[in-house]
Amino acid sequence: MTTVAIIGCGRIANNAHLPALSELDNVRIKYACDILENKAVAAKEKFPKIEQVITDYKVALADKEVDAVFVLTPNFAHYTITMDALKAGKHVLCEKPITVNYPLSVEMANEAEKQGKILNIGVCNRYNKSVEMLREWVEAGKFGNVYHVYCSFRSFRSIPGLGGDFTTKSQSGGGVLIDWGIHFFDLILYILGGAKIKNVTCDAYCEMAKDMKSYKYKGMWAEDTKNVETGTNDVDDLITGYVRTDKASISFNGAWAQNIDVPEMYIDFMGDKGGARLAYGDKFKFYDGATLETICPEYDIPNMYKCEDEAFIKSIETGVKDKNNIVNILESMKLLDALYESSDKKAEVQF
Ligand SMILES: NC(=O)c1ccc[n+]([C@@H]2O[C@H](COP(=O)([O-])OP(=O)(O)OC[C@H]3O[C@@H](n4cnc5c(N)ncnc54)[C@H](O)[C@@H]3O)[C@@H](O)[C@H]2O)c1
Repeated sequence: MTTVAIIGCGRIANNAHLPALSELDNVRIKYACDILENKAVAAKEKFPKIEQVITDYKVALADKEVDAVFVLTPNFAHYTITMDALKAGKHVLCEKPITVNYPLSVEMANEAEKQGKILNIGVCNRYNKSVEMLREWVEAGKFGNVYHVYCSFRSFRSIPGLGGDFTTKSQSGGGVLIDWGIHFFDLILYILGGAKIKNVTCDAYCEMAKDMKSYKYKGMWAEDTKNVETGTNDVDDLITGYVRTDKASISFNGAWAQNIDVPEMYIDFMGDKGGARLAYGDKFKFYDGATLETICPEYDIPNMYKCEDEAFIKSIETGVKDKNNIVNILESMKLLDALYESSDKKAEVQF
């Protein structure tokens, strides 16, 4: 039995990890922690497996019965809480992105190594069966030479929690690139078989809600954290650029908000023998260059969060690092930093 504490009882806790952990018989949820007590209390009411509610995560870190913690707070808090937890001898599953930048992410990886603890990152899409299949098909040569990847993660006027932590760079590390782009780029590097970055160029724009009070939207995700009166919006709502790796090149467009009401969430893999479009979080279609057929394999998409949490617990039990171990996610974080650096300098960044 692995005893865990949940730190941060917001959306990802309630919608993903608490339902998943409630179904795992080998997990005990001793604590639910949130600085806002009412959120931890509400989580306990919804998920009876939670034993106690706390508002200071250090209570859980001091408890010898706790083996592991789930860090499910806003991005800026990932670093401090994870470092404290590792130093207290706990294993950690920290939500994506690792934290607000690459250097702090490296420190987190080093601390996990030093303490001999598992530190996994919540890039949950790696547990989508489509992703594993695509990775295997690339490796097996079904695509031939994968020479280019294009991805689009674009939405119509969908800035989350405008003025709150999502749109404040010091708290989030960035906008659509770090929030949505991390999933897309992490999948691309993973499916390509662990591609390494060679150089990048990027432009980031913060255009759509320069005047936060007059920003118009139909629905706002994370609206409970919005603060258009006194908050900050200094992050990218649109991002575009180009990446060269030791494998394929990558071009991309991402937008939390744009004045085009045609949402796009997909990754295209271009090979000389075949190509595929992966619908984000969903299935893929393979276009066979030899037969000119479109192949839609039959399979079920698993609950990615449950697979992610199961893999974390298994890593704790066996000591074997899983694909979501921080050491396997650092390249994605390095890429995000390089893209932001390129945009700031208005120049290519080389490695
Ligand atoms: N894997 C995914 O697909 C996915 C999806 C959504 C969010 N996320 C990530 O999950 C994290 C949380 O996002 P969210 O949408 O749940 O945010 P949220 O604002 O809904 O929840 C965060 C909670 O953390 C609490 N909190 C903040 N500081 C704390 C502290 N020091 N101790 C205890 N609690 C604290 C807040 O009060 C809040 O209730 C973010 O890093 C986000 O990027 C990942």
